[in-house]
Amino acid sequence: MTRQFFVGGNFKMNPATQEQKRALVKVLNEATIDPAVEVVVAPPAIYLLALKEIVRKEIKVSAQNCYLKSSGAFTGEISPAQLVDAGVPYVILGHSERRTLFHETSAFVAQKTRAALDTGLSIILCVGETLEEREAGKTAQVVEDQLKPVVEALKPEDWSKIVVAYEPVWAIGTGKVATSAQAQEAHANIRAFLSSAVSPAVAESTRVIYGGSVTAANCKELGVYQASYIRLPAVPVIGHTFGVCAQLDVDGFLVGGASLKPEFVDIINAKK
Ligand code: G3H
Repeated sequence: MTRQFFVGGNFKMNPATQEQKRALVKVLNEATIDPAVEVVVAPPAIYLLALKEIVRKEIKVSAQNCYLKSSGAFTGEISPAQLVDAGVPYVILGHSERRTLFHETSAFVAQKTRAALDTGLSIILCVGETLEEREAGKTAQVVEDQLKPVVEALKPEDWSKIVVAYEPVWAIGTGKVATSAQAQEAHANIRAFLSSAVSPAVAESTRVIYGGSVTAANCKELGVYQASYIRLPAVPVIGHTFGVCAQLDVDGFLVGGASLKPEFVDIINAKK
């Protein structure tokens, strides 16, 4: 099965001014963008609607977070229903910065994922291990533990609206990108987990994207060629094809810092 390549730009709490936001949009609007790629940008909530109005229609917008209730006394929060009402199709949930800085548990992320799905949103669901967990050989277990509550909260058909973003915490904003082999291994593990915990069909169709210090310089190595290759269960993949790395399970990227720069266009066009 061919999974559509997905590139997300998570602006985080940037840019600092409306002028910078408009400059970013200008770059995206004037660029030649691969029409085969699904592109989603996630500006800060305060710029979400304004950006949606001025960005080219092929580029979708995403919120960076939402709460689980549809309305009420929840100061500072945005509801899934409000996002849908505003025409926002995606929300990022479970980002490591939410998990670590704002103490969001995997159970809470699963509750929010359920609420967002029930409202009609698609979700970029982030998972990933810390350096300490990787060095202790716990990467696969940590990621499974983050995914389990979501698996329990979802029906198999819900997964068509989920993009899993594997983001090793040690690679986020550090300039220390995972090697293509590390990314492929983690993505293959996620797919194997989804296969056993949900179904082989869901595992095969769910996009798993990589995030963590992705740049124009490293994106081709991380994931240019994907899914149109035939996987043989007993073969431990991956070789080099046509001079670039063929990462079967890397279906795109979630980009932080580089999504604020013109090189984001090169990352979107990584498969070209
Ligand atoms: O959501 C995006 C990730 O946190 C990656 O951020 O590209 O700045 O490392 P980064």
